[in-house]
Amino acid sequence: MTLVLEYTLTEEDYLPKVIELKNLTKTYMMGQVPVEALRGVSLTVYKGDFIAVLGPSGSGKSTLLNMIGALDRPTSGTIVIDDLDVSTLSDNQLADIRRNIGFVYQTFNLIPRLDAISNVELPLSIAGVPKKTRRLKAEVMLKIVGLGDRIHHKPSELSGGERQRVAIARALVNNPSFLIMDEPTGNLDSKTGLEIMELAKRLNKEQGITLVVVTHDPEIGDEARKIIHLRDGLIESKKVN
Ligand SMILES: Nc1ncnc2c1ncn2[C@@H]1O[C@H](COP(=O)(O)OP(=O)(O)OP(=O)(O)O)[C@@H](O)[C@H]1O
Ligand SMILES: [Mg+2]
Repeated sequence: MTLVLEYTLTEEDYLPKVIELKNLTKTYMMGQVPVEALRGVSLTVYKGDFIAVLGPSGSGKSTLLNMIGALDRPTSGTIVIDDLDVSTLSDNQLADIRRNIGFVYQTFNLIPRLDAISNVELPLSIAGVPKKTRRLKAEVMLKIVGLGDRIHHKPSELSGGERQRVAIARALVNNPSFLIMDEPTGNLDSKTGLEIMELAKRLNKEQGITLVVVTHDPEIGDEARKIIHLRDGLIESKKVN
C-alpha cells in the first residue's frame, strides 16, 4: 500500500522565516495577582511580510510585539529566530538580533533636548559609527522620510507627524530588515497617520522590510497582507489578504 500525502505548497513555503512564536504565554505578576497577557499565541512572520495586529485595549498587542522584538521573554512557549531558540541565546546575542530590528512607538520617544538629526544619529552612536558617517546617514534618512528641511528642529519645534517621521528615520537608520510599530499613528490626525503608513508600506514594498504594525485603524489593517485579531491574550482570527 502506498501512502499519498497531499500537500499544496503556498507562497509561504518558499519564504524564509524571520521569527516563529510557538504557544507563547506571558503572565505578569501584580503583587500576588497574576495577569495573563498572552495565553497561547502561535505566529510565524516571514521575510517581507506585512502583518497588522488589531484588538481591543488590554488584549495583549504590545506584549506580543515585545516578544516579536525579543525585548521580553515569555512565561512559557518558544521563540525561534533564524532557527535559534531565543531562550538559549546570551544577552549579547539578543542585542545583536535587536540591532536588526527598528522600533516605532506611539509616543515617539524622542530625546527633547536633541535636534532631529541628533535623535536619528543615536542608534549609530551606540553602534560606534564615526561622527561624520553618522551625520551623513542620519541626514539621508531624514530626507527619505521627507524632513530634509527640518534636521535642526528639536522635537518641540516639530508637528506630531514630523516627530513620528523622525522616530521612523531613527528606527531605520541602522538598516534593519525588520520594522515593528506599536500604534504609530495613534497620536496623529488621520491625514498624517495615512502619510506615515504610506511611508511604512513603501519601505515594505520597495525595500522588502518586514513590517509588523499594531493599530486600532481597520483601514490600515485592510492594507496588510495578514491581519491578526487578538482578544484576551489569544488570537481570535487570522486573515490573509
Ligand atoms: N508590565 C506589566 N505588568 C503587569 N501587567 C501588565 C504589564 N504590561 C501589560 N500588562 C497587562 O497585560 C495586559 C495586556 O497588555 P498590553 O499592553 O499587551 O495590551 P494592549 O493590547 O497593547 O493594549 P493597548 O491597546 O491599550 O495598548 C493588560 O491587561 C495589561 O494591564
Ligand atoms: Mg499597547
